[in-house]
Amino acid sequence: MFENLEILQFPDERLRRLSEPVETFNAELKVLADKMLEIMYQSNGIGLAAPQVNQTIRLIVVDVSEDRNTPCIFINPKIKKPSGSVDSSEGCLSVPEIRTTIRRYENIMLEYQDLSGTIHNEQLDDLMSICVQHEIDHLDGKLFIDYVPDVKLQRLRKKIAKSKKNQSTIEGTTVRVV
Ligand code: NI
Repeated sequence: MFENLEILQFPDERLRRLSEPVETFNAELKVLADKMLEIMYQSNGIGLAAPQVNQTIRLIVVDVSEDRNTPCIFINPKIKKPSGSVDSSEGCLSVPEIRTTIRRYENIMLEYQDLSGTIHNEQLDDLMSICVQHEIDHLDGKLFIDYVPDVKLQRLRKKIAKSKKNQSTIEGTTVRVV
C-alpha cells in the first residue's frame, strides 16, 4: 500500500485540486501518514500535505523540531482565531528552487483530528504556525507562490537561471522547505 508515492512538482495541475475531508480513520490512513513522514524526512522538508503525494484527502504531517524527532499528524486541520502577522521565508517540496518571503499569521488555534478521529485544539506559534498554514494551503490547492506578485516571480526565476549558470546558491538565508 502506498509503495510508490512521489512528490508532485509544480506546475502539475493535480496540486490544484481541493482535498476531501477524512471520514474513515482506519489502518490505511496510518500507513499513508507514516509513509508521508518518511518521504518528508528523506526530502529534508518540515511538512508535507497528502495532495503533494497525489492523495486528495485532508491530511498533513509536520516536524519543525531541530532534532527531527517530533512528528505531528494533523487530520482535517482547521485554522481558528488567526492573529498577528509575520514574514515567512518559504520553499516547498513541490516547487523546487523557488524561495521567497511572504506574510503569514503569527499565531493560530488549530482544530484537528488525530489518527483515531479524536478532535484536538492546539495553540500554534512561530514556525509551527507558519508550516501548518502552508500545508493547509496545499489541501485547498494553493501554493505559496500564489502569494507572490507575477513580476517578483519572474525576477526569482531569472535569478535561479542565472545562479544555475554560475553554480552559486540562490539565497544565503536559512529557508525551511515545507
Ligand atoms: Ni509545500
